[in-house]
Amino acid sequence: MPLDIIIGAQWGDEGKGRITDLLAAQADIVARYSGGDNAGHTVTVAGEIFKLHLIPSGIIHEGVTCLIGNGVVVNPAVLLKEIDALTARGVDVTPSRLKLSRNAHLITPAHIALDAASEQARGKAAIGTTKRGIGPAYTDKTARVGLRAGLLADEAYLIEALRTHIQAKNELLTRIYGVEPVAETAVITQYIEYARRLSPYLVDSSVFLDNALRNGRTILAEGAQGTFLDLDHGTYPFVTSSNPIAGGALTGLGIGPKHVRHVIGVTKAFTSRVGSGPFPTELEGEPALRLRGTGANPWDEYGTTTGRPRRVGWLDLVMLQHAIRVNGLTELVLTKLDILSGLSEIPVCTAYEYKGQQLKHYPSDLRILADCQPVYTVLPGWQEEITQAREWADLPENARQYILFVAKTAEIPVTMASVGPGRQQIVTLSPAITRH
Ligand code: IMP
Repeated sequence: MPLDIIIGAQWGDEGKGRITDLLAAQADIVARYSGGDNAGHTVTVAGEIFKLHLIPSGIIHEGVTCLIGNGVVVNPAVLLKEIDALTARGVDVTPSRLKLSRNAHLITPAHIALDAASEQARGKAAIGTTKRGIGPAYTDKTARVGLRAGLLADEAYLIEALRTHIQAKNELLTRIYGVEPVAETAVITQYIEYARRLSPYLVDSSVFLDNALRNGRTILAEGAQGTFLDLDHGTYPFVTSSNPIAGGALTGLGIGPKHVRHVIGVTKAFTSRVGSGPFPTELEGEPALRLRGTGANPWDEYGTTTGRPRRVGWLDLVMLQHAIRVNGLTELVLTKLDILSGLSEIPVCTAYEYKGQQLKHYPSDLRILADCQPVYTVLPGWQEEITQAREWADLPENARQYILFVAKTAEIPVTMASVGPGRQQIVTLSPAITRH
């Protein structure tokens, strides 16, 4: 009857989708609890690549039921496109396998138009959002004028709510931002069609999950984005508009903390970020290209949702310790370890220097963070290719030392390391190996 939570320990894109895919094999339900189609989760199965934005990665496993929780903001057009694409590839995405919380909020074309207009208006201070309407949809939720998915089950109510919504947003779009309004009638017609197709998927998600827990089922909560994009604990204001941290899993699903078993943090063996904001260990030029890749491979560091090249840098243990604390992480998974093969040395940031002082904790004031210099411990690299490694003994000594250094410094067991994009390319570690 437990709940395990998978969390991004950095700025998103840590490889949570493939870890979810792996752990989903032992779960009964996989549930998304925050964000929307700003997320992009890539899973590779038998050489086939699945890119998912809204549907939990567990859908690839036949015996797993997937849920989109109340904490998620859902663009119905994207959800239906994903349902259709998966169905075309032979995956069962009928309402028996996929559930949508009645309390999730809907994204509309008006939210998307507002996201673009407000980013444009911010100019140089733009957040670098994915322009999926995420911020405006959560703004409406908080302002208590949002559109809940439950509306899809009542056409008359849906039409009335959409009309009020679009008229209010068009005022903003035209009067404040001076851009084109969205077409009310066209949107209403579209949403009536979405409602027809999506209403069979609606459930009361808290009740659904509670029944599952009472019947001894295991739930895996699949985090989207990452700790440093968290509205409260991330690099505000360069964050998303929800709570991707572990606490968000409880509010975003309607489950109490007594059910939580593992809180699994996923971090790359280096760091990446899309969008704006300070990034102390960021690299430029040739060293950055070495970590990012050229874009020739689907796993290179280019956004799954936007295609933007990701900013990259060395692993930052000051960040990791912040993630361990705010999420209560019980263990860590290190992804993309194979990318570090071939480097002669690998710097790892263990503290920040700020105005002659060493900071041990991640500063919440971005002006301080922007002025922090990383303090590095330089570890020896390894030259061997490690993509075939499956056990601790298969890894070169220096790769083992790298993992042990992370585990000991951050005081957390590392339970897996990924060494390639394929489902099998995982080194599973006994917690006893890396326990500090
Ligand atoms: P929004 O979530 O589209 O509002 O974007 C806010 C910030 O979060 C921007 O810096 C985005 O690039 C970033 N972001 C949102 N979703 C993801 C994700 O899944 N991975 C990485 N960054 C993301």
